[in-house]
Amino acid sequence: MHAVVLVGGFGTRLRPLTYSIPKPLLPVAHTSMLERLMNSLAHGGVTHAVLALGFKPEPFMSAFPNDMCGSVQLSYAVEDSPLDTAGAIGFAARTAGITDTFVVANGDVLTDLDIASLISFHRSQGAEGTISLTPVDDPSQYGIVETDANGRVLRFLEKPQPGMTTSNFASAGTYVFEASALARMPGDKKLSIERVVFPQMVADKALFALSTDDYWIDAGRPDTYISANIHVSKRALQSTDRPIHPTATVGASATIVNSVIGQNAVVLDGARIERSVVLPGAHIGRGAVVTDSLVMGTVGANSQVTHSIIGSTGVVAENAECSNAQVPAQDPAQVPR
Ligand code: GDD
Ligand code: MG
Repeated sequence: MHAVVLVGGFGTRLRPLTYSIPKPLLPVAHTSMLERLMNSLAHGGVTHAVLALGFKPEPFMSAFPNDMCGSVQLSYAVEDSPLDTAGAIGFAARTAGITDTFVVANGDVLTDLDIASLISFHRSQGAEGTISLTPVDDPSQYGIVETDANGRVLRFLEKPQPGMTTSNFASAGTYVFEASALARMPGDKKLSIERVVFPQMVADKALFALSTDDYWIDAGRPDTYISANIHVSKRALQSTDRPIHPTATVGASATIVNSVIGQNAVVLDGARIERSVVLPGAHIGRGAVVTDSLVMGTVGANSQVTHSIIGSTGVVAENAECSNAQVPAQDPAQVPR
């Protein structure tokens, strides 16, 4: 089975981390989101995945030097300019020569979904396309789906305003399509699957959806990225998922609460890290307090960092207070010298 994995977005909500690492390559409990997604696709029978790339293709190619991710063979489709979701699927599927039933996954989703059961539901309904659904608390952040008793989709509303629908079933960002659906996605121009193609498939009664209550999170926002790290590291199904990476240096009097400390990161004595992710290579000085934050750069001694994102080149000075900030605020590669 082939898959198209969408990884071409800008990761704007995770800036400035995504200035240096594309969102799907960011680690969740020490393993990249993309690797976790590939493992789950492999489990569902996927043997080949084409990465639909636009923004920053090089890091993906160098992350998988043999073009293999576990047992999944990878290939790449690089857009000249962003084609949006349906444009990207159409372009990538044609680049990879897909002519059979295939799976599509958003690259920032972390889930225990059993893809094989989504594929068998799709086949049992004779659907042209099938969407995996998950219940959500805040429908305004997702694509919201209304179905009939047989799972046929009656309405697809991307990021609805309050009052537009009573459904709280969100598209979980994993789909199964027949190759015939590619006729709706020419792949030569910008096209949104959520805003254009799904509503057209609904009108043609060709779209189905299946809801499951498996663990699911879109890790593309700071709060959900932190939650995903905490969830995976706490349940630690494998020893490599544990909160503190074995290569990290954590001072004996540092306190780590509901947080993940990445590869080669340093947290010095007296520091307190709470509901945060200290990414690979980050440095947290003595006595610093980091709460609800993501740190890839340096936090000086005795600083307070709250609800902030510190990118790889970001530095918070000693004794500083940093709240609701992004450091640096602009991509260092784009700032005129
Ligand atoms: N190749 C390519 N080209 N990929 C793209 C492009 C593009 O132009 N634009 C976005 N993507 C990729 C992103 O990298 C991501 O993996 C995926 O498409 C979805 O984009 P997001 O920016 O993460 O969308 P979202 O999280 O706001 O909403 C989407 O996901 C929700 C579930 O997590 C929608 O599909 C919603 O309907 C859905 O509920
Ligand atoms: Mg997303």
